[in-house]
Amino acid sequence: WVLMVTAQTPTNIAVIKYWGKRDENLILAINDSISVTLDPAHLCTTTTVAVSPAFNQDRMWLNGKEISLSGGRYQNCLREIRARANDVEDKKKGVKIAKKDWENLHVHVASYNNFPTAAGLASSAAGFACLVYSLAKLMNVQEDNGRLSAIARQGSGSACRSLYGGFVKWVMGKEENGSDSIAVPLVDEKHWDELVIIIAVVCSRQKETSSTSGMRETVETSALIEHRAKEVVPKRIIQMEEAIQKRDFATFTHLTCADSNQFHAVCLDTSPPIFYMNDTSHRIISCVEKWNRSEGTPQVAYTFDAGPNAVLIARNRTYAALLLQRLLFHFPPNSETDLNSYVIGDKSL
Ligand code: DP6
Repeated sequence: WVLMVTAQTPTNIAVIKYWGKRDENLILAINDSISVTLDPAHLCTTTTVAVSPAFNQDRMWLNGKEISLSGGRYQNCLREIRARANDVEDKKKGVKIAKKDWENLHVHVASYNNFPTAAGLASSAAGFACLVYSLAKLMNVQEDNGRLSAIARQGSGSACRSLYGGFVKWVMGKEENGSDSIAVPLVDEKHWDELVIIIAVVCSRQKETSSTSGMRETVETSALIEHRAKEVVPKRIIQMEEAIQKRDFATFTHLTCADSNQFHAVCLDTSPPIFYMNDTSHRIISCVEKWNRSEGTPQVAYTFDAGPNAVLIARNRTYAALLLQRLLFHFPPNSETDLNSYVIGDKSL
């Protein structure tokens, strides 16, 4: 017999960024962060997990290719979920798994991303969130999403925020064992459903410096990071939560753009410096900044993660359509800019 569960988890985009760890193994951040979870129809991971007495080891395939599960992050997630497994019964198949049997059973995992892996589109976020969620369903784990978020966090920090829709805060927590470092939903996806998210895929190649090693180097060498984590982000988190509650797009845009720019500034302040954005990314920033200024009030926010792709958040559908028109005019896909395509990562459509 084989028992299977399939789940789908969207990715999330941070508007106040997580960058830097206080504990590398447990994945504990040096500051709180806030993100928006995309609509699962657009950028998501689909994961099927299966268990069978015929499996003699845990195995995983990512986009059809087998990957090694020996990394600590996979092992940590598997161990934490197994430790919370419960009795499972499938009457139709005549299968009964007792809580204690899970230790001796192996799982097979098949995961697909419908967007470029490791290109700065937060694929690890959707990936680990989906892995933890589907394993939890398979093993009848009874923990709520908050507790599951603390497990997904041990796969990839940003993954903890993908357990909820809408705007989500990852509270860094104080405990050494990370028990209070969890995701908390701020508002659900209906709260601010006029927002439209467009992703300009500037380059879908794998990034040169992974977030994990990039943030380690920043913490080790940047003098600015401490100022950011201790002085700047705590204030921004309070202001951002208020802007989200009030649907105050001007403040939201100001904070989102400023935080993206400061994140890339600490990357530049790292030794050797880390460049995630390229010329096209910079031109997109200038274009949006100029447009927002000419409108008198901001209509589009931009944010860039650990890669050159632009995540653009428009105030509403009207501005999303105008934005797309502008982008297509200034940055036609496959022109001399190495921009390939646009993805509507809308959270509301
Ligand atoms: C720039 O979550 O990918 O996207 O915890 O080492 O797996 P690890 O890093 P990861 O870092 C994400 C960094 C970011 C900002 C963010 O999503 O908050």
